[in-house]
Amino acid sequence: MNIEEKIQRTLAELGADNAEIVQALFAEVRAAMEAERQGLISGGAANDAERQKACRALRDRWLARKNGIISAIDEHWLKPSPRELKPLVGRAFNELRQAGAELEVSQLASGVPIKPDHRSAAQAGEATQVQPASADPVAAPDLTLPGAHRALGSLHPVTQVLREIEGIFLELGYRTETGPEIESVYYNFDALNIPETHPARDDWDTLYVKLPGSKDNAAVLRTHTSPVQIRAMEKYGAPLYLIVPGKVYRHDNPDASHATMFHQVEGLAVDRDISFADLKGTLDFFVKKFFGSGTRTRFQPSFFPFTEPSAEMAVSCWACGGKGCGVCKQSGWVEIMGCGMVHPFVLKNGGINPKRYSGWAFGFGADRMAMIRYGVTDIQLFYQSDVRFLEQF
Ligand code: DAH
Repeated sequence: MNIEEKIQRTLAELGADNAEIVQALFAEVRAAMEAERQGLISGGAANDAERQKACRALRDRWLARKNGIISAIDEHWLKPSPRELKPLVGRAFNELRQAGAELEVSQLASGVPIKPDHRSAAQAGEATQVQPASADPVAAPDLTLPGAHRALGSLHPVTQVLREIEGIFLELGYRTETGPEIESVYYNFDALNIPETHPARDDWDTLYVKLPGSKDNAAVLRTHTSPVQIRAMEKYGAPLYLIVPGKVYRHDNPDASHATMFHQVEGLAVDRDISFADLKGTLDFFVKKFFGSGTRTRFQPSFFPFTEPSAEMAVSCWACGGKGCGVCKQSGWVEIMGCGMVHPFVLKNGGINPKRYSGWAFGFGADRMAMIRYGVTDIQLFYQSDVRFLEQF
């Protein structure tokens, strides 16, 4: 049933006996009105007389006292509406009437562009005529009308955070390196001193990939960016200062803090006489740049197979300044990354002599950094492509 037919019936006849249906009916009418208004604007008119005529026709169709759509709605929907629905119908009707004010001829006409080469539907069938050039090129079309705006995209919040982090380390003389997302078991695990018995080798965490022609599961979707440490050491040797921003994959069930794909940033510094003091100094500099100059750091002993000693670094809570709040679970600290002194086996696997060189490394989740930075509590939001979420950044 089209709108013309619907407005000739009462709400009861239309089966509109609750708020939801009534609102949907009014929404349909509003949408139709707006579509017709937009149609007139985008269609334009050949000259002012035609423009006035078209605007008047649209106004009369909707606003005429006799036989106008809004009058019919007053007559058939509002007046006979049952008492319990009347306030709602009245409100919706008033909103419709207010929206209808935009159909007043003078207001409408100012939005309809005059297009000298405009051909009405009736003319469209005739042979094409050469239109004489307008004497005054500025007069028409109306150049004072706003142009058509195309919405510009913007960088994804995680990309923004990755770029910012890269910027901080580039300033310190680090290079950026990438590696393959489909990685060999050797680079992802063995070369990093992760023995086959380590829980990270468990199927639960790792997504294995069968490569064409191979019988065993020799490849994985890299579970971290650490394999690029080995690849870069092989490629460049020492000294080496690099960060690795990139995608990683885990066989995790998606929830507010887990995604099957997320982003990490790995860091590696290898040189003569590198000590834990270099690690602390550099990471302290980094978090002060990223979270603000008042940020404090805390290092706690931890374990990673590829670093010895290993540490977990936390920053003072950016939300409460360390006093304790919901964000830091009352502890005053938020853990953000793993780090440590590069294990001698790892240097050796990268072709670097651990007797001559030492190094420190770190790895953290960039999505988590973006969540902390922007107060996002669900990682899934980053990957749902919902413009209402993304356009806030
Ligand atoms: N690769 C570790 C992970 O995914 C993170 C990590 C911890 C990287 C310590 C490092 C490091 O380079 O030193 O959980």
